[in-house]
Amino acid sequence: MKLVVQGGTPLKGRVRISGAKNSSLVLIAASAISSGEVILDNVPRIADVKTQLEIVRVLGGQVVWEGRNTLRLKWPERLNREIPYSLAKKIRASNLFLGALAAKRGQVKIPLPGGCNIGSRPMDLHLKGLSMLGFDVSLEHGFIEAVPKKVEGCTIYLDFPSVGATENIMMAAAGASGTTVIENAAKEPEIVDLANFLNAMGAKVRGAGTDLIRIDGTQEFHGTRFSVIPDRIEAGTYMIAAGVSGGEVTVENVIVKHLQPVIAKLQDVGLEVEVNEDKVTVRRVGELTATDIKTLPYPGFPTDLQSPMMVLLALAKGTSVIVENVFENRFQVADELKRMGAKIQVKGHTAVIEGVEYLSGAQVKASDLRAGASLLLAGFAARGETEISVAELITRGYEAVVGKFSAMGAKIKALADEGDGLGICAGLSGHEEDRDDDQTGCASS
Ligand code: UD1
Repeated sequence: MKLVVQGGTPLKGRVRISGAKNSSLVLIAASAISSGEVILDNVPRIADVKTQLEIVRVLGGQVVWEGRNTLRLKWPERLNREIPYSLAKKIRASNLFLGALAAKRGQVKIPLPGGCNIGSRPMDLHLKGLSMLGFDVSLEHGFIEAVPKKVEGCTIYLDFPSVGATENIMMAAAGASGTTVIENAAKEPEIVDLANFLNAMGAKVRGAGTDLIRIDGTQEFHGTRFSVIPDRIEAGTYMIAAGVSGGEVTVENVIVKHLQPVIAKLQDVGLEVEVNEDKVTVRRVGELTATDIKTLPYPGFPTDLQSPMMVLLALAKGTSVIVENVFENRFQVADELKRMGAKIQVKGHTAVIEGVEYLSGAQVKASDLRAGASLLLAGFAARGETEISVAELITRGYEAVVGKFSAMGAKIKALADEGDGLGICAGLSGHEEDRDDDQTGCASS
């Protein structure tokens, strides 16, 4: 699929932020722990959620959408314990079924996961955690297999506060006997959301949001109704879009605290930011000025917003430096932005950006989800027309992206590639109230 953008219109208006992709993906997996029905509200209709739900069905779970963003999930007593490669290769978060199924003290077999092409993304910390909890863990023919032996709580120190490893260990430990302590745990808001969700199902998880999480295991998990937190990365993308296009955008339904690292950087570059309960307004009032960014685990600046910020800095007066500390391969968008006139030099983990007065529309290609979103932002700022190919990657993480940007004045068109049979992607327009699941992630099918 291609997105074609006519640049030069300042974006103006309000946008309601959807539920968090990264929370939804882990909560969908974690629902497998429950013996009763789980109802999740505020789940975004995006391609990655669609893939995660395909995995639920393959494992034997039942999924029903109710209205636009509510999901009902029900798992049978006996379920399948193997995920096929064809699904796991589409999405990194398929690995989260490892911890969820392990919590039921059963055997699990999953292929090494796929996902965005942003670095090597090993699984060593996940496997170390499960093995310390008493699983026999092996990796053969591209599959990870975990077989429960004596599953007991213990203290697990993570060399790096990996989000996925923290989540998998939290889930597996929730079903183990005794107490597990995770040291140097990830502190992302999505970790806190998972802890709250596990607790709502009957688990005892304390300390989420700090670097020390304590989990008292149980085997009694009941059904619950739970609402997913707003997507801080989607919100950050729309906030940056206001600066890039020279307009004024209000993001609604956000948790302001989750956006502090982004707000601080937007103020550094000279944007006006106004906070009002669960809303943040960003407006461009003058010239953008250069600043430096280091990506770090939360509460540092999020790696998922590094590429969108690169677009903003490409238009800021002076020289900015970005240091990427989380994923080694996350500067691929720089080459595409250079096609549009940006001046960026990448060396290892560092990008040096010399601000230019304007970008010019060009044919570019999305290499990953966030790179795709960044090219969209660059298209809004550029003179002339920008054509983004492989744009279906954007629908992995942004709900109704064309509809939301169009409502703020963006001139944007989705075109199916010849022969892909997609038509204009129904899940992109943002105006359908009762789409069924098959329409949501049309770009990924
Ligand atoms: C999650 C998010 C992703 C975000 C990232 C960092 C989901 C579905 N995705 O990805 O959007 O960009 O957090 O905030 O929630 N690492 C190891 N060994 C491991 C695991 C990770 O070395 O066993 C390294 C990775 O190579 C990477 C770093 O840790 O350099 C961060 O990865 P991690 O926090 O695990 O990210 P994900 O959970 O994959």
